[in-house]
Amino acid sequence: MSSLLTLPSTVSRLKLVPKALVAIPLSLNLIKSLEQKRIRPSNSPLLSFPPSLGLNSLTAHFSTSRSAVTPDPFHDNLVVLGIETSCDDTAAAIVKGNGEILSQVVSSQADLLAQYGGVAPKMAEEAHSQVIDQVVQEALDKASLTEKDLSAVAVTIGPGLSLCLRVGVQKARRVAGNFNLPIISVHHMEAHAIVARLMEKELQFPFLALLISGGHNLLVLAHDLGQYTQLGTTIDDAIGEAFDKTAKWLGLDLRKSGGPAVEQLAREGDAESVKFSIPMKQHKDCNFSYAGLKTQVRLAIASRNIDAKIPISCASSQDRSSRADIAASFQRVAVLHLEERCERAIEWALKIEPSIKHLVVSGGVASNQYVRARLDHVVNKYSLRLVCPPPNLCTDNGVMIAWTGIENFRAGRYDPPPPANDPEDFMYDLRPRWPLGEEYAEGRSEARSLRTARVHPSLTSIVQASLKQQ
Ligand code: KG4
Ligand code: ZN
Repeated sequence: MSSLLTLPSTVSRLKLVPKALVAIPLSLNLIKSLEQKRIRPSNSPLLSFPPSLGLNSLTAHFSTSRSAVTPDPFHDNLVVLGIETSCDDTAAAIVKGNGEILSQVVSSQADLLAQYGGVAPKMAEEAHSQVIDQVVQEALDKASLTEKDLSAVAVTIGPGLSLCLRVGVQKARRVAGNFNLPIISVHHMEAHAIVARLMEKELQFPFLALLISGGHNLLVLAHDLGQYTQLGTTIDDAIGEAFDKTAKWLGLDLRKSGGPAVEQLAREGDAESVKFSIPMKQHKDCNFSYAGLKTQVRLAIASRNIDAKIPISCASSQDRSSRADIAASFQRVAVLHLEERCERAIEWALKIEPSIKHLVVSGGVASNQYVRARLDHVVNKYSLRLVCPPPNLCTDNGVMIAWTGIENFRAGRYDPPPPANDPEDFMYDLRPRWPLGEEYAEGRSEARSLRTARVHPSLTSIVQASLKQQ
């Protein structure tokens, strides 16, 4: 377990939800529990039942009030606990409304990752359950706070692995229920983008964002909080998955996850030596594909008789240099694919929102220095600025959830305190497949995702429906 940053501070508790925000803060799951179980939270001063909200209302999750949005995002005394368990990291952090990070704790499942070569949901769930209480307690201790000092709890509800999301949501509801705190449901990918606003005070909407992680490859135009146009996504694998498999097949040490291991080895290799082809060159859109590049890497490894069972630390110098050449060539082409898509996305974005000034690059893969350097080159051509959060805020963390919680709270998007104990058969509102934005119509191409699993309506469609209702 690593505690990444601790900035002790004395803070005062803002116990009351601002009056302007007490609009219709009912969540879908709360309504379900109230209707199905006829349970009324005894301690919820925020609760009201607008007649228009029913079980199927998409807008029920959010209370959105334009007038409630704070013009200066760094002015209040909010103290928010953020909890993140969507994949393999158990993370918690406490962040103040003025942007001060009071504590940050991440417990990663590095040994499990190394053992299984990827995330096994059941194992990951168990690992989260084992450490979640300790991680949250450590975040409170490092901030020298108790739950009573908190203003609200923010938690990732999707996208991610249901089993894992549930652990975080249960914990968040326990803390919020026991201490009468509002709860803020956070979209994991929105958090990857929005955390950039914590680091870069000048970053205003609209901006373009490239979000690159183990499960996602997204190019989105961020018009406003909760309002995104999806310019591109992956039709198969995300870039982080390609880094992870390349690391595994090259016999690298996976304990810090595959990406950093490939990046490190690539520094020793010749990036021009293996001729991989750039994915989707014939498709003039902003979508991504990394499955084919993965296959190219696997074939290149097989043809050079590289044995992944021999760890890189035991490889001969010739074997090591051959592995380094593959790592460097893979990284170069994987990033060329990003560069090409980003250039097109910037052109599209400048047509839709001519005032954009920034490209935000976030998600685990954005901590890669080569990725940053190449994308910096791209944005310079268009006189834009690259904004990358520091590496420990690019990979999954609790700070991004707490900060996105703060921004959503100010916009009135939160739920009242849950009951102290959820009933045993309580239906948690988890959104394993939850798009961030609506697809840009002009950017549609024939190369579409083959994934057909049920998808939750996008965050943007929910927010827009809620805005129309007002
Ligand atoms: O955002 P993240 O922490 O978790 C997800 O939401 O998926 O991203 C994890 C991904 C992993 O695939 C990991 O290998 C990759 O980010 N990653 C990197 C680097 N650091 C993390 N990929 C390339 N270079 C890095 N330095
Ligand atoms: Zn992530």
